[in-house]
Amino acid sequence: MRISVIGCGYLGAVHAACMAKLGHEVVGIDVDERKIADLSAARAPFFEPGLEDLLREVQATGRLSFTTDMAAAVGNSVHFICVGTPQKKGENAADMTYVDAATAGLLPHLSPGDVVVGKSTVPVGTAARLAAIVKDAQPEAHLLWNPEFLREGHAVSDTLQPDRLVYGVTGGSEDHDAVQILDRVYATPLEAGVPRLVADLPTAELVKTAANSFLATKISFINAMAELCDAAGADVTVLADAIGLDDRIGRKFLNAGIGFGGGCLPKDIRAFMARAGELGADQALTFLREVDAINMRRRIRVVELTRELCGGSLLGQRVTVLGAAFKPESDDVRDSPALSIAAQLQLQGAVVTVTDPQALQNAARRFPELHYEESTDAAIHRADVLLLLTEWQEYRDLDPYETAAMVASPKVLDGRNVLEHHKWRAAGWTYRGLGRP
Ligand code: UGA
Repeated sequence: MRISVIGCGYLGAVHAACMAKLGHEVVGIDVDERKIADLSAARAPFFEPGLEDLLREVQATGRLSFTTDMAAAVGNSVHFICVGTPQKKGENAADMTYVDAATAGLLPHLSPGDVVVGKSTVPVGTAARLAAIVKDAQPEAHLLWNPEFLREGHAVSDTLQPDRLVYGVTGGSEDHDAVQILDRVYATPLEAGVPRLVADLPTAELVKTAANSFLATKISFINAMAELCDAAGADVTVLADAIGLDDRIGRKFLNAGIGFGGGCLPKDIRAFMARAGELGADQALTFLREVDAINMRRRIRVVELTRELCGGSLLGQRVTVLGAAFKPESDDVRDSPALSIAAQLQLQGAVVTVTDPQALQNAARRFPELHYEESTDAAIHRADVLLLLTEWQEYRDLDPYETAAMVASPKVLDGRNVLEHHKWRAAGWTYRGLGRP
């Protein structure tokens, strides 16, 4: 099939490459010339494992190209909208500027029978509004909503082998003409047995925000348990293992620590609350306010614990922060809890050095006032306290004996509860986890 992918960020760049991998002829379109230049040269404009290899592989087939020219969508039959919906400045609601602009830009290029497929995470009601705009411009074109569930760091495999495919169509019927078209797009995963659900437009939009809200709630639940474990002298990691063995609960997303960040969960739960308010259903989501509050309290807790570890004052203490990305295998620092903790410690008088295997450039753009060090060894050298805040494998693998010889004082705060605390204590470290005695 001939496909356009509008928006080539974390979602769109991966989607475009994966659609070409599935055998389609794809053009990726974005307003950012630098991004398009990178992608055209098969360079990933951000760190995502496997993406660059995939770009090289599919570009060699001639099936994938990139441009800033929306007119390149002409002649394609399926147009995916993959632009961002960030949080509005000073408000909880989502900023719909990019989705609206992408749709408006596409309208003059639509032909009868074309399908516009929204993938961006949007407030419920957006798809119906855009479907009407599409129909106005091209009465024989359709708009579908096909939410995306990929995780950064696993984006390529999540796109090629998703857990499920959800199609939102006007009326929610399997017989809708556009359902067969999307089935042809996803023929390979469907043949491999990936479940596919057809829903009406608002349900499809809600599936996405509900899924992210559930994940955020699960993380905040275990972080609330960590607060209790701290108060009661219990161990939240053992608690998570024990409740996680109940398969109704499950062990995934029960890792207590410094909380969730990134470009999705934090802004999605806030946009969901804002939208529920507009719909007069705000009471249904007041619990998400608590989920958000528990999450933000983690950052304050880490600052307080660091102060304790430093003997009561942060002034002049050399604090080394291991990890700046919001999670490992990503260079994304949007709402990164690690960076926000680093900045807070610095504001409170600590001398903070941040290191990360991939995210330093992005981190320095966001917080230029922090000191960054590429080499882990150099960052650790003469530290008064180490904070492990993003659980990259290389930090999990640090040898406590070798590391002890490099620091000024062997004190470590394990913000992700991933270090073997017995081993670190045996090597002479003062070890603090979160929700662990
Ligand atoms: C999330 C969802 O997991 C995806 O399904 C969704 O498609 C995506 O948002 C999106 O809306 O685009 P992502 O933001 O890549 O994916 O990151 P997650 O893997 O969900 O992690 C989010 C945050 O939660 C990270 O900061 C991570 O460190 C934290 N986390 C995760 C925990 O603190 N504890 C856990 O047990 C799991």
